Amino acid sequence: MRTVTAIMVPPASKARQAFLRDVLEGLQGHPKRLQSKYFYDAAGDALFQQIMHCAEYYLTRCEMEILETQSAAIVASIRASVPQADLVELGAGDASKSVHLLREWMRSGMGHRYYPIDISGNIIRHLQNTLPDQLPGLEVHGLNGEYMEMLAQSGQTSGRPRLVMFMGSSIGNFTPEEAIGFLSAVRRQLRPGDFLLTGFDLQKNPRLILDAYNDHQGLTRSFNLNLLTRINRELDANFLTHQFLHYPTYDPATGACKSYLISLRDQAVHIGGTVIRFRKDEPIYMEISQKYTIDGIHELAAGCGFTPVKNFTDDKGWFVDALWQAK
Ligand SMILES: C[S@@+](CC[C@H](N)C(=O)[O-])C[C@H]1O[C@@H](n2cnc3c(N)ncnc32)[C@H](O)[C@@H]1O
Repeated sequence: MRTVTAIMVPPASKARQAFLRDVLEGLQGHPKRLQSKYFYDAAGDALFQQIMHCAEYYLTRCEMEILETQSAAIVASIRASVPQADLVELGAGDASKSVHLLREWMRSGMGHRYYPIDISGNIIRHLQNTLPDQLPGLEVHGLNGEYMEMLAQSGQTSGRPRLVMFMGSSIGNFTPEEAIGFLSAVRRQLRPGDFLLTGFDLQKNPRLILDAYNDHQGLTRSFNLNLLTRINRELDANFLTHQFLHYPTYDPATGACKSYLISLRDQAVHIGGTVIRFRKDEPIYMEISQKYTIDGIHELAAGCGFTPVKNFTDDKGWFVDALWQAK
């Protein structure tokens, strides 16, 4: 059976207005910043696929190993308290890792309904087109939009127990304080007994971490600069991307890996009708990728209304998929 439901897509003009508002607000603030959720247009999606396969970006290989070798154990941990459930994935991306869990989920009779949520319409279309062929019998209910809004929609449509997946260290794109707010908001959308599986990148040798965000092919650099190109195209702007330097940093004391674009000269950029001035050496804060400790992950669960069930770790102990149950 090949079941594909209609994709829910926000109207383009509303999305553009929100993009323009967020970009102007961010670039008029101190320090200047851009929101990393806007990295993912079609070019950004393609660059991220390349990053996932590059030598320095260990995160994907670690999580792939966990899902290839431990999906049966993850499903068994859930099955011990819930016989059947729907799967919801926040920021699904190409689902190339989650597909292993989905396969095991269906094989063990846990269910066949998958609600991938992604802000990228391109990604949702890709999943709708490819997953039902890869996993015959899977119902794909693509939800194109913001995490929380779409999670609420999945709750209205599903009505069954849910496993919510938030993989690939996307939780790291929030500061620790924001992560508490976000995971507490996820908890409020769930019912007691529902599950959450979250990917956390662990603190490790700082060089390994910094290299992952500074690959020798320059993919992460292109990924960051692509957001300026997207702003040029979609918001009628005139960024000169060669006048910005990609500058990643990692602080081993706090676990915060942050990337910036640094203006290489004094310059003025027109965005729609607004002029934004940059000083030479002024940063734009682009993204945080927060790294965690096992103790920090347990504290986070408790602080957000979840009971930790089990941590699933790769062989090197670099990455964790943490399974929690809503209290
Ligand atoms: C870093 S990728 C990770 C993809 C996948 N989970 C993985 O592990 O490979 C983040 C994904 O989340 C989506 N995303 C980012 N911010 C979002 C938001 N606020 N709401 C919904 N989706 C978002 C992006 O479009 C992208 O596909």
